[in-house]
Amino acid sequence: MSQPKEDPVVDPADANAAPASASEMTATQIYKRLLGYVRPFVPAFVVSMLGYLIFAVTTPATAAWLGWTIDQIEAQNDAARILAPLLCVLIVLARGVGGFMGHYALEYVANHVVHRLRCQVLDQLMSVPLGYYDQSSMGRLVSKVTYDVLQIKGAATNAVTVVLREGMTVIGLLGWLFWVNWRLSMVFLLVAPCMAFIVHLATKRYRRYSKQMQDSMGDVTQLANETIKGQRVIRTFNATDFVSGRFSDSSERNRRQNMKMVATQATATPLIQIIVSVAMAILIWLALGPEFLGNASAGDVVTFLTLAGMLSKPLRQLSGVNAIIQRGISASYSIFELLDAEQEKNLGQHRADRVQGNLVLSDVSFAYDPESPVLQTINLDVKAGTTLALVGRSGSGKSTLVNLLPRFYDITAGNITLDAVELSEYELGNLREQIAIVSQDVVLFEGSVADNIAYGIADKVSHEQILEAAKNAHADEFIQSLPQGYDSPVGDGGSLLSGGQRQRLAIARAFLKDAPVLILDEATSALDTESEQHIQQALNQLMRGRTTFVIAHRLSTIENADEIVVMDQGRIVEQGSHKALLEKDGHYARLHRMQFNDGDGVLFAEGARPAESSQPAEGSQSAEGSQSAEGSQSAEGSEPAKGSRPAEGSRPAKGSDDAVTS
Ligand SMILES: Nc1ncnc2c1ncn2[C@@H]1O[C@H](COP(=O)(O)OP(=O)(O)OP(=O)(O)O)[C@@H](O)[C@H]1O
Ligand SMILES: [Mg+2]
Repeated sequence: MSQPKEDPVVDPADANAAPASASEMTATQIYKRLLGYVRPFVPAFVVSMLGYLIFAVTTPATAAWLGWTIDQIEAQNDAARILAPLLCVLIVLARGVGGFMGHYALEYVANHVVHRLRCQVLDQLMSVPLGYYDQSSMGRLVSKVTYDVLQIKGAATNAVTVVLREGMTVIGLLGWLFWVNWRLSMVFLLVAPCMAFIVHLATKRYRRYSKQMQDSMGDVTQLANETIKGQRVIRTFNATDFVSGRFSDSSERNRRQNMKMVATQATATPLIQIIVSVAMAILIWLALGPEFLGNASAGDVVTFLTLAGMLSKPLRQLSGVNAIIQRGISASYSIFELLDAEQEKNLGQHRADRVQGNLVLSDVSFAYDPESPVLQTINLDVKAGTTLALVGRSGSGKSTLVNLLPRFYDITAGNITLDAVELSEYELGNLREQIAIVSQDVVLFEGSVADNIAYGIADKVSHEQILEAAKNAHADEFIQSLPQGYDSPVGDGGSLLSGGQRQRLAIARAFLKDAPVLILDEATSALDTESEQHIQQALNQLMRGRTTFVIAHRLSTIENADEIVVMDQGRIVEQGSHKALLEKDGHYARLHRMQFNDGDGVLFAEGARPAESSQPAEGSQSAEGSQSAEGSQSAEGSEPAKGSRPAEGSRPAKGSDDAVTS
């Protein structure tokens, strides 16, 4: 991120810069773009200007009224006794009405602009490619929606109010002064360059500090977020001192930048006032000279001096408003930068009601960062309705591979087709309709259990359908036992539910979505054996008739897959059915031995499995399995399956622990 460039008025070199993107925008282009947001509200803006015009006129009018009244007192005009107080009330009334019109109409415009910007930012956050999030800090993004937008509102309301109201007041006052005596008023023109110079210096500093303040606000937001989310970790690792230290540093940095901004502002404003008062002093000195006094009434003199004296307040306000404007410019820059970020490519036109689910990957390569390829020449042919299991070391690229299917990332080479149509030819939304994902970290949203199951499609499904999905996901039982059943809140991020319960909601979601392609990325890895068994049953049911990609570290859960693919360092190193791969005695067989040589592995060695074991969950990850791993004898010990338990069952359960918890 770079600073917005100086205004071309200040720096002519940039005057011709094309408004291609935020990073090349000059301040003037940013103003223009902001004005674009005001365009739909031109009538309100005009009302506001009119209001402030009325307000502005009342200031010199007050001075004129004062001078006129004094002259009337001198002339002993009886009529003035009624007229003067009446005019006084009228002026204040006009000022009040003008102020209201100006203020209300401007806030109306500003709040609309902020609302639009905020919504655009959020829409854009949902349109940028996922890679954008890999490169941005969460806190910075959140503070764009919160802090930056508010800065723009500040600039749009406070600053524009002051600029309009006080600006017009200054123009009104100066105009009148020149009309009364232009020669004397020339004094003000003499000091104008000095004032412009101070404003220019201050502007540069404001902009620098605004940018730094935004960044440090991002850090503050980020750390606050992390602290709130990571409470458990922070407490278990006794990291409170560390966290509060880091937070205090960030907050302190923000405080210092704020103070620098304030220091600039606090210096610039009195400096400008001093210059104005010097001008005033010269003016008074001249005004009291015989040339001026000679042919003017006392009222004229009072009017003139009051007019000049009234200049000081609007000038002071105008000089202070610069800081707010610069903060607004910096914030707009930050927001336009996000709004200008390239969106996810969605050029495809193809729409399918429901695909069959034939997926073919040919020579697919992918890299998050061009320097280091993550997937290399992957070739796969997955027939509709079959299950493909991906196994391999952590970091071998399994999740990356499945993330290419809903086009979370675009492949760098090769192609992927779904029902013989390239993924990029599908309309993105349509493609994603065809795919359901259940992953290890279930994301639940604020709301009820039912809301979460029907997330995004609440208006398209009936309560019965939600119920059925929950039943299929073996979630109905626990949901019924919640205090408010399906209307129970899940808490922030699902914190009121257990990991297994959350997982079952995710599965229910997938049932309800009923997509022909299913991705299960470590869908059961965080669970104990018993809940996994439940969930595995649900998953087996879910997988029926869908093209399924399963990623699992626990090999027992994927033995029944039609095809097992072993990945290593982004390549497919082995491929085949469970049986074929075991016979081949390569990577898979080795992995399998590692997981199964102790405890439950041997328990379920070929031939020794109980009959129900055709379902992976039932056979390989039964409750007995885990018990035997611990070497504990249970009542079921007399069951035939146990009989096959070899002596190794009593060995230290290290291997089986891995198998259970990995
Ligand atoms: N968003 C990302 N940006 C950059 N690199 C990434 C990103 N996500 C993953 N990687 C890298 O890509 C490689 C493959 O990661 P991936 O998540 O696909 O592995 P995995 O096989 O799913 O591992 P695990 O079994 O631990 O889930 C890793 O080296 C990882 O560091
Ligand atoms: Mg993964």
